[in-house]
Amino acid sequence: PKDVGILAMEMYFPRRCISEEELEEFDGVSKGKYTIGLGQKYMACCDDREDINSFLLTAVHNLLEKYDIDPTSIGRIDVGTETAVDLSKASKTFLMDLFAAAGNTDVEGVDSKNACYGSTAALFNAVNWVESSSWDGRNALVVCGDIAIYAEGSGRPSGGAGACAMLIGPNAPLAVEPIRGTHMVHAYDFYKPKLDSEYPEVDGPLSITSYISAVDASYAAFRKKHAKAKKVASLNGAGEASLAAFSLADVDYPVFHSPYGKMVQKAHARLVYNDFLANPAHPKYAAVANPAALLAQPHKESLLDKTLEKTFMAVAKTDFDTRVEASMKCARRCGNMYTASLYGGLSSLVASVEPAELLGKRISMFAYGSGIASSFFTIKVKGDTSAIRANLDLVNRLAAIKVVPCQEYVDSLKLREEHHLLKSWTPAGSVDNIWPGAYYLEEVDGKYRRKYARA
Ligand code: ACO
Repeated sequence: PKDVGILAMEMYFPRRCISEEELEEFDGVSKGKYTIGLGQKYMACCDDREDINSFLLTAVHNLLEKYDIDPTSIGRIDVGTETAVDLSKASKTFLMDLFAAAGNTDVEGVDSKNACYGSTAALFNAVNWVESSSWDGRNALVVCGDIAIYAEGSGRPSGGAGACAMLIGPNAPLAVEPIRGTHMVHAYDFYKPKLDSEYPEVDGPLSITSYISAVDASYAAFRKKHAKAKKVASLNGAGEASLAAFSLADVDYPVFHSPYGKMVQKAHARLVYNDFLANPAHPKYAAVANPAALLAQPHKESLLDKTLEKTFMAVAKTDFDTRVEASMKCARRCGNMYTASLYGGLSSLVASVEPAELLGKRISMFAYGSGIASSFFTIKVKGDTSAIRANLDLVNRLAAIKVVPCQEYVDSLKLREEHHLLKSWTPAGSVDNIWPGAYYLEEVDGKYRRKYARA
């Protein structure tokens, strides 16, 4: 199979969000701390009426319906989430209800978990399957999503919620290219060891340097493999392949996992810094003061250097506005969607750029999951994205999310806290807050079994 990648996309997000500007006032923090300091605008939220299974059920149901996909044409489903409600039973198994009526139980794949990275693990699994000798000719689904919530404190404004479902197969308009740079190491930056709570344990400063060090390492791994592939291609006489190192100049739209808006700006600036290290004499770095000192700086020091960060954020500013901002639509409205964040970024880009303009372009993807798992890879736009764009209807749907008072957010979290781990309960949250047609949690019975219904 050729050009294996994303054939269709659907996003799901809750019906309510809160304003970060209002949250600054509500939390009594200094003005600008969330909106400027973290680059946040809004974040989506839900109460105990929804859980990750209801999110994913809606995303898949809508994808199948909007694209008129025959359930028997799906041979694999890979799920990525870190909000699963069961340590054993995969969220994937709940999705099988959508395939039961068609009699399709021959569907490979289960859940992948590692913070925000599960979605990318799922995508790689699905793409690998289609490219493998065990492929049975059918398409795959990648389904990811999370409810990102934090205990009261500095993490809370970086929450959010949302999900994404993607159809994976050959001859895709969004073809996943073969080279992937990956960086995985063990770190305690963000993790969820408390089974009696949905809130993560976070080392804020470490989570930021971990993210940035992963940008460096996965980009370096990608460039190394890219250089090797080019060398092989030129030795095989494949045209006039330039042997110049891969840089952002080879990408049209860089997309990043977005824990909060400012982090994406920092990550993009960091790629520019990496490009600078590889080619410091390039005129576009003329404004960089004291380049010799930067070139001599040990890597570890560079991770904590605020002046370096500011310098490259300034150098990268125009590029960010013209090439990165288009992928921030979901993040600006829904906040962090954890596993769905990067793919919300991709869907934002597809929704923002005219299909004729997007055709032939290369998109870079930076996936990051704390703990740490990260990858840098690319997608080539090989076909018409009009159908994906029209079906996503993202701009209208994001605007239709209702902005509610911050007290409602805190009350919603309280409902979730009260019911976490309980059996025999009915959600207290109103079904009025569920989009028409979306799935919601109806009850949890005496054996912790979850039952879902549609609004
Ligand atoms: N006006 C403008 N800017 C302000 C203001 C203000 N009033 N107050 C603070 N700031 C700036 C700070 O100067 C700082 O800027 P910088 O990033 O350029 O250094 C920024 O706001 C953040 O403020 P801090 O005090 O440094 O950090 P805070 O205590 O707000 O915590 C953090 C931020 C660590 C991101 C927290 O929200 C968190 O723990 N989030 C969850 C973890 C996370 O998302 N990590 C990112 C990668 S890991 C992942 O994906 C989950």
